[in-house]
Amino acid sequence: MTLLIDHTTTNADWLQDITSFLNCGEICAIPTETVYGLAGRADMPDALIKIYEAKKRPKFNPLICHVADIEMAAQHVQMNKKAEILADAFWPGALTLVLPKKDKSTVHDLASAGLDTLAVRCPVGPLAECARELSAPLAAPSANLSGYVSATCARDVLDDLKGRISAVLDAGPCTIGIESTILSLCDDKPIILRSGGITRDALENILGEEIALYHSQNKKAPIAPGMLSSHYAPCSKMRLNADTLYKGEALLAFGTPVFPVDKAVSIAQLSAERDLQVASYNLFSHLRMLDACGADQIAVMPIPNEGLGEAINDRLKRAAAPKY
Ligand code: TXA
Ligand code: MG
Repeated sequence: MTLLIDHTTTNADWLQDITSFLNCGEICAIPTETVYGLAGRADMPDALIKIYEAKKRPKFNPLICHVADIEMAAQHVQMNKKAEILADAFWPGALTLVLPKKDKSTVHDLASAGLDTLAVRCPVGPLAECARELSAPLAAPSANLSGYVSATCARDVLDDLKGRISAVLDAGPCTIGIESTILSLCDDKPIILRSGGITRDALENILGEEIALYHSQNKKAPIAPGMLSSHYAPCSKMRLNADTLYKGEALLAFGTPVFPVDKAVSIAQLSAERDLQVASYNLFSHLRMLDACGADQIAVMPIPNEGLGEAINDRLKRAAAPKY
């Protein structure tokens, strides 16, 4: 059974309820500003196994460890100057830092999938509060079935994971709606392993240097084990950069379409004003909605590849990639 715990009203007991589950090695879905996370104590192997099993996630794909603050991160990873500057500027927030894991870290190898690096993030909201209450980092991948569209509200978590996890903390929809930016700081040159809620421009402005995007073709780049080409994918087929609509298609619009849409099976608008922040907020919930409408295919209007558009296009490209 999965318990739905309310965070939106005057439920003063939520922290006690959730942390009791976590302390028993149970796993709970807890919202962050990006997407809902499926959390378990990072120092409890039983909890970590439950996370992989509930999501049907391959165990070679490591988990992000969520911390209460920079001090907690520094107990588990080797911070460096750039990491301190960025954590200072963006935490709590949608930035995950990949750094060398400390030998004395209590984070179990199952969370880091045996790598000698660890991904750490201090999120906004209840997940960080839980880590603080427990004085322990919480491993939390996105709270969706592996490979499927991420969940940005409690309803979407339940659709994927009901009966497979102990509880869902319902704090309403996530404010950003797209996952964190993952930045590797293991070498001299920082490299973005996954675009996300903090834009490349924002990172470059704070660091005062250009930051490259990881490409799997680049053999010299660090390994990003979870960057599978098919991911975030609805069951329906997807067609990107659509400037027309075929019979039987649903449309994921960005701005007003200038082509006929009267035959669309369904239309979901990411942002009528072509606002990328609004589009990120709507992306996953709209993909889930269109996936359920019975169309042959989802056609997606083009989205500029700047600012948050980089993260949105990354998700759409993987959502449209062939599934192996
Ligand atoms: O916004 C987010 O990042 C959300 C919320 C819950 O915090 N979490 C999230 O987790 O998106 P997940 O597991 O869906 O994606 C994390 C990605 C995976 O692709 C994984 O391969 C990568 O982070 N990752 C984790 N540890 C890593 C490491 N040590 N080195 C490289 N990549 C790593
Ligand atoms: Mg995910």
